[in-house]
Amino acid sequence: MSFQKFILGLVAAFGLPWLVLIVIPFGKMNQLETVSFDEDTDGKTGFYESSQVGHVPLGSAVYGANGCYVCHTQVIRPTYAGTEMWRDDWAGQKKNADDKDTRRESNPFDYAREGFAHIGLNRVGPDLSNAGYRIEKLAAKFEMTPEQYIYNRLLQPRSFIGFHWTTCPSQPQIFRKATPYGQSDELITIETKDGEVKTYVPGKSARALASYLLSLKKDNQVPASMSHNPVK
Ligand code: HEC
Repeated sequence: MSFQKFILGLVAAFGLPWLVLIVIPFGKMNQLETVSFDEDTDGKTGFYESSQVGHVPLGSAVYGANGCYVCHTQVIRPTYAGTEMWRDDWAGQKKNADDKDTRRESNPFDYAREGFAHIGLNRVGPDLSNAGYRIEKLAAKFEMTPEQYIYNRLLQPRSFIGFHWTTCPSQPQIFRKATPYGQSDELITIETKDGEVKTYVPGKSARALASYLLSLKKDNQVPASMSHNPVK
């Protein structure tokens, strides 16, 4: 094999995939072109934009820094590429109180307010694209505020609500130990195995993460021109 062929082989094996899988998508996603609604097909006019609200940029950074993306995905693939669209709770809500079907596939605008699109590495835990809905429902069931539910879940995933088997790791580093004076919605009390009682309050990172997790509701209407194969 000549040296020239060897170099060409290297370019074909590494350079092309790098260009096609990294450089071109990065260029495309970095400068998203605005997409308009079409009055005839969508029933409304104007531009499509992300509907995420809350402390998204900081919350997303905390999510990344603590490795949540290693076990949780945030991507609902179109029906030709995956099965998430049939998972009512993952892809959105099939029927909510107003009888609306909000299921839809993910699109690049979903991550527009985040420094990094946490589509995830593995799916050890559930997809979190629409975790905001599930958290609110569970919090209501346990008669807590959604934030209280998240703080408890993040601090003591195994002893809380009976998930003694979960591998979702505890995140004490984003909380502060506190001495309880009076009562507060934000105090989280934990009993260790030795019977010791510890109290914590959420730090800035924990608050931002809670706000970010609650913002995970991908339910805004997407222009038909961006939707591949909706399941309705
Ligand atoms: C080692 C893997 C792993 C890591 C890392 C991990 N999780 Fe989890 N997570 C799980 C598993 C497994 C479940 C499902 C069982 C359960 O509900 O606890 C879960 C469940 C959850 C749920 C409930 C989802 C639902 O559908 O109700 C939330 C919210 C959550 N994790 C948030 C986080 C956050 C935030 C982080 C980062 C700070 C994180 N997880 C890191 C494995 C992980």
